[in-house]
Formats: sequence, C-alpha cells, structure tokens
Amino acid sequence: MVETVKEISKISHKGGFLSGGKNQKDIKPLKLSEVRHIEKNRIKSTFNEFDRVMGGGIVPGSVTLLAGEPGIGKSTLLLHVLSKIGGLYVSGEESAEQIKLRAKRLNIKGDNIRVLADTDVERVVDVLLSIKETEKGNAQLVIIDSIQTLSSSDLSGMAGSVGQVRYSTEKLAYVAKTNSISIIIIGHVTKEGTIAGPKILEHMVDTVLYLEGERFANARILKTLKNRFGAIEEVGIFEMEESGLKEVANPSKLFLQDRVKNTPGSVVTVLMEGIRPILVEIQALIVPSQLVIPRRVSSGFDFNRLALIIAVLQKRLGIPLGTNDIFINVSGGLRVAEPSADLAVAVAIYSSFRNKPVHAKAVVFGELGLLGEVRNIQGSDRRGKEAKRLGFTYIVSPPSVKNLKQAVSIVS
Ligand code: TYD
Ligand code: MG
Repeated sequence: MVETVKEISKISHKGGFLSGGKNQKDIKPLKLSEVRHIEKNRIKSTFNEFDRVMGGGIVPGSVTLLAGEPGIGKSTLLLHVLSKIGGLYVSGEESAEQIKLRAKRLNIKGDNIRVLADTDVERVVDVLLSIKETEKGNAQLVIIDSIQTLSSSDLSGMAGSVGQVRYSTEKLAYVAKTNSISIIIIGHVTKEGTIAGPKILEHMVDTVLYLEGERFANARILKTLKNRFGAIEEVGIFEMEESGLKEVANPSKLFLQDRVKNTPGSVVTVLMEGIRPILVEIQALIVPSQLVIPRRVSSGFDFNRLALIIAVLQKRLGIPLGTNDIFINVSGGLRVAEPSADLAVAVAIYSSFRNKPVHAKAVVFGELGLLGEVRNIQGSDRRGKEAKRLGFTYIVSPPSVKNLKQAVSIVS
C-alpha cells in the first residue's frame, strides 16, 4: 500500500497535467510541421561521452533519472555536467560546503552554479519557479541529489519511501514540462537493483541513465535504459581519477592495461557495450580445493553461467574440476551481461587448469552450448575488427571455431 495525496483541484482545473496550466480553451493541436525540432534546442554539456549517451545533448524541459549505486560517482558526474551548462544544484545529501569541496577537487570555480541544500520538495519547486522568473535562462539545468532525500509535508511517509519518491518526482516533472527547465534526478539503487525507488520512477521520466562500475576500480560506464529522445545503445565510458571523471577515448586500453601477458588463466575477449566493442581480460584461477564442497567465486560474471560452463568442460573435455576451487574475474570491475564471454571463460579455466598460457595474440568470444558447441553471437564482425585494430590477430570465434575442443587448442 502506498500513500498518495489527492490533488485533483490544483492541476486539473487549470487544464490538465501537460498543458502547462493554460486554460482548456487555449489548447489547439499543432500541425506536425510546425512542431519545433528538438535537435536544435538540445543543450550540449561539451562532455562528449555524456552528450552522446543523452542522444546529443539535454532536451529542454526533459526529466532524466540517473541511477546507480551509492559512491559510484553520480554526484561527481553531474557536477561536471552542470559546470559546463550552468544552473542549480539541489542537494539533500550534502551541505553547500561539501559541494564546494567536491567542486574544488574537480577544478570547478562555480560562477554559473547555484547550490541549494534542502529536502522539502515544495520549497525546491518554489525556488525553481522563482529563479526561472527572475533570471531568465539561469536555471537551464537543475540537478536533484537525490530523489530519496526529498519529501513533502503533505505526506506522512519518510523521505525515500515509495510514496514520497513518486510524489516528489511527479511535482518536479510537472515543473520541468511546464517551465522548460531540464531536470536530472539522482536515484540510488543497491547492488541487487531491488530498491523500489528508481524502478517506479522509470515510467515517470523521459530518460533513464545508469552509472555502473566497481567502486574500487576506476572504470565507469554510463548506460541508457530508456530514452524518449534518442537511441539506447549508446554508452559513455569514464575513468574515476583524483580530480574527477575523465572521458575515455580508448576503453579497451583501459581494461587491458594491467594485463600480464603469457600467464595461464588469462584470456582476452570482446564485449559489446551498446554498439561499442570493448576488449577486456577474463581471468581464471583453478586450484585444488581443501573443502568438501569446492569454492566457485565469480566477480563480474554470472554465477549460473559459470556453473554451466564448468559442467560443459567436465563433460565434453573430461577435465575433473569437481575437486578444484574456481575463481573468475573480469578486468576493470566490469560486469558481463551477455553470453559472448562464455567461451573466453571456458578457455581461461582450461588454461589455468593445464597451467599453460593461451596464444598471446588471441581473442576469444562466442556462446557456449550445453553440447560443447560454440554459437555465433551478435556483432561478431565488429568485435573481430576491433580486436584486429588493437593487434589481436588470432580470432577464436565462430564460424571458424565450432566447438570447445577446437577453441582450447589455442592453449599451447
Ligand atoms: P560521488 O560522486 O560522491 O558518488 P555518488 O554521488 O554516486 O554517491 O563519488 C563517490 C566516490 O568517488 C568517492 O568515494 C570518492 C571518489 N572520487 C574520486 O575518486 N575523485 C573525485 O574527484 C571525486 C569527486 C570523487
Ligand atoms: Mg552523491
């Protein structure tokens, strides 16, 4: 059960939610040809990776949700973006001084940024409207950090409760649409992604971005889960440094930089992040187990798929993994969400088990079937091309490689 405020009178007699408070009689359907083209009006942050993910810039009057785990860099990213555009930073999480400290770290002077430390959604809305009136264009972009800290006194639920989160978002979205203010809302999610908060907001906003990465690794990936104004295949890749997030032009380099060549258990594969092929290293370590039930530990790779791969390796190649501990790691804190890395994981396990390295110039990708067959995957050509561009000449993937037996022959 979710508590909500019944608020029929305020909005509906003015002429409906999207009409901007105009009188019902003023509303006329427009000719499609007369509708202003949004491309021209997009606000560019000149933070390339961010603009691209947004579909070419921020659309005026749009509401965007930036979701991600706590501590991943959401506030940092948006302070960067805001510094390039100018606008208002509303924080319910940190004081103005704390925001100043972060800005200093990012080398942002902040002449074009205003800060408001508040958690009351009505007051925030009032401020938005007043800035809009007094200094035209000065509130081009508004950052709300975070939606979980905002609340309304009209509701009795705590800040962060489903009712409060939904109500605050509704209010903000209304102000954005009717006053052409672009708002980016930060929403925290937990590792399991189960927090109701951001999930229930997805349909209330125009764009949903997700910032992903491992907290103690540097790489950050910005993905689009939904975009009413652009494609959702674009991803932005950043590196978290001492002085903030830096755009990464060549992500494969970032994920392979610490690789120790010619070591058993190390295999390079190509993942697709949206439409971008990225080379990453998959590591496996196989050691005899001291336990009755051997350990299977995986960082960045799906646990159930790992179990499947182990079973296939045992059955099809006859290697006795049942008495070994198996550890899998994906470089740079990436999380693999596609089956294309199956084959690389299998080869890495095999390589570690035999204690022999794979061919130094080899990349491995493909989906592994239960019968030990290797299946073709999406974007094979693009993956192969990117691998070659980076000097990997030996491409182990279908159609040239049809089964696991063939694939493991690159372990010398
Ligand atoms: P933050 O943006 O506060 O994360 P979120 O808003 O998603 O909770 O950043 C979190 C971490 O990033 C913080 O633990 C410290 C680190 N960090 C850097 O490494 N470099 C920087 O320049 C900044 C601002 C933060
Ligand atoms: Mg934050």
